[in-house]
Parts: sequence; structure tokens; C-alpha cells
Amino acid sequence: MIKRLVRSYWRHRLDRAVIRYQYLTHPEVLRLSQILDGWILQGQYSLARSERWRSKLSRIGSIARPEAVRSQKGVNTSMTRLNQSHEAFIEHIARGNKIEATDWMPDDYRQLLIKQIHMHAVSEIMGAYPEKEWVKYAPTIRRKLALNAKIQDEIGHGQMLLRLAEDLSAPYGRGREALLEDIVEGRVKFHNVFHMPAPTWADAGVIGFLVDGGAIITQAMLLASSYAPYARMLKRIVAEESFHMQCGESVVLALASGTAAQRDMLQQAINRWWPAMMFFFGPREMGTQSRRMLEYRIRTMTNEELRQKFLARYVPRIRALGMTLPDPDLHRDLDHPHYWHYTDPDWDAFNEMVHHNTGPMSQTRLALRRGAQEGLAWARQATLTAHATHCDLSATL
Ligand SMILES: [Fe+2]
Ligand SMILES: [Fe+2]
Repeated sequence: MIKRLVRSYWRHRLDRAVIRYQYLTHPEVLRLSQILDGWILQGQYSLARSERWRSKLSRIGSIARPEAVRSQKGVNTSMTRLNQSHEAFIEHIARGNKIEATDWMPDDYRQLLIKQIHMHAVSEIMGAYPEKEWVKYAPTIRRKLALNAKIQDEIGHGQMLLRLAEDLSAPYGRGREALLEDIVEGRVKFHNVFHMPAPTWADAGVIGFLVDGGAIITQAMLLASSYAPYARMLKRIVAEESFHMQCGESVVLALASGTAAQRDMLQQAINRWWPAMMFFFGPREMGTQSRRMLEYRIRTMTNEELRQKFLARYVPRIRALGMTLPDPDLHRDLDHPHYWHYTDPDWDAFNEMVHHNTGPMSQTRLALRRGAQEGLAWARQATLTAHATHCDLSATL
């Protein structure tokens, strides 16, 4: 495929070549970009320097667009392969530009993105398991359908995000299978909340209400991420998370306005999930990698800013239901009413759980994931074989 495209360029059949180029997979795009940029950097081919070719290639982000053909709406310009320095990259992002998958990026930017998106994808997938346990016990058919739809969404979010991680990992030779394998081998973390048990129906509601509510706060911040494919994908994910939160809220409201036993069940679930939610946003003092992500504008808010947003939104809501929160020190600051004081969760215990999968349900859920991974290997193989056969047939037409 690459050889055919290079020959096609060589014969000046640019339109046709560019059209075909857009359908290449990412490893092929990267390889072809390297060949073309090699020509440009070496100055061997006058064609490579021609304005016509530059404008054709700018459509696929291979080289920088001339000023005149930059986006009318403004900010989205490609990072030139001829200007690959860390300072230029930071400046490019600071101007509000976004980075596309085919743009040049520093290696640590790529690695931070892979870490963030891989963990996000895995958390989406593992997040389906605590609620899956409650599908067959959901009290009505409507609750059952809503829960099923939510679980289906979460797995879909995980698959979409894995695609992004897969594209970014291509230069390291890691594909989807390897990224999925990382889950069952414990090489990638997932959110602390999904290591926890969900022993009652109220837990299923509280997961939607608090965990999906917390996820909306984090993911809404990521809509401004400097990595454009992630920001675009999150638009859909955040919209669906909003539906999940409303499903959870609906269960919580029903229980809060129910019998004394139902209210007690809800209170117990809130007590169980509250410390986990304080951990959910990460430590007050951010680590080196998180600070680096802020510098690169992969994320745009600190852990503490996100947690404060969550507290401002959820403390009044929970108290309005007549429920209490299991934190005697939870109160607004007298001098800064937008700041909430809270008791720190047991950071060491939660860190141990997340890093070594030692939570009460970690191994059970990883075993379920392993079963799904191995049990559906035949389906993935069949899909790949069918795709390869289709490509072979297309190439002969
Ligand atoms: Fe999700
Ligand atoms: Fe969700």
C-alpha cells in the first residue's frame, strides 16, 4: 500500500493519492508521513516544496499549512514537522491550538496521553461490572432496561477510548489486543471506585448519582484538552454520562422518598461511597506527571479544583434529601465560602488498592474481565479475518 501511494505521488497524481491516503490506518499514515517528510527535509524533490503539494498535504496534517489556508474559524493549525521543538510545541498549545493524531508531538506528550486515555478506557470497561451485578435484581423492568443501556454505554466508551489509545500507541508497536491484555495482567490501573463492592440496590443508584456525576466533572474539564481527538470523543461521552447520572439520581430520589428501610439503605450506600469519592479526584498535591499534563493542557484543572466543584454540587444535594455525609469536618470555609474543608480519605489504603488490585472486589472483577477476554477471543479473531478478507478482495478489484 505504501509503495503504491509513493509511486502515485511520484507520478503527480495528487488528488487520487490524497483520497486514498485518508483511508490508511495510523501506522501506515505515520510511515508515509516519514517518507514524505524525509523528501521535504532533504530538499530532494522540487515537487515536495511546491505550493500545490503543501496545500494538498495540509488537508491530512502532514506538514504545516501556510498562513493563508489556515482554518477560517481560527485556532486549529497543524504542528509543523519542520519545527519540532518542545518550546514551539508548548507555545503552539498555549495559543489555543489543538493537536491532531497525525501532528508531530513530543514523546512524553504522547506517553502521557496514552497513560491518561488507556486508564480512562479501562475504567469505563471495569465500571460496567459493579452495575452488571444488579441488572437481574433491578426492581422494575424500566430500571432493568435503563441499567442495561448504561452498561452498554460504558463498554462503548471504553472501546472508543481504546481506539484513541491504540492510535497513539502505534509507534510503539502496541495494538488493541496488548492494551486489553494490560487489564487482566494488572499493568494498567482503573478508578478506585470500581474496586469497591455494591452490596445493595442503593449502591447501584449511588454509583450513577455520585460516580457518574464525578466523572462528568472530570470529563467536562477534559473537553478543553489540547489533544483534539480526545476532546471530540468526550463530547459524546459526557452527554451519555449525563444520562447515567440522571438514572442514578432517579433511583436515589425514589429511595430517599421511600420507607424508613429504603432511606436507611440509601444512607448506608452514601456512607460507603463517600470516602472513595474523595479519593476519586486524586491527591491534593499533584504528582509530576499530573503537573506535566497541566503544562501540556491535556487537562486544565487541578485535582483539588475538581474535588471542590464536586463538593459544591453534591453536598447541598445530598443534604437536601435529608441524608447525612460521613465526615464531621465537612464545612465551608468562613473566609472563602466557595472552599469546602473535608477529611482526607485514607490515601495509603486506596493507593495500595488501585496500584496492586487489592480492593474487596478487584480480583473478582478482573476474573470476570479475563473470562470475557478469553471467551470472546474467537469473535475478535473472526472480525479481524473478515476485515482482512474484505481488504484483500477490495485490492483485487
Ligand atoms: Fe462512561
Ligand atoms: Fe457512566
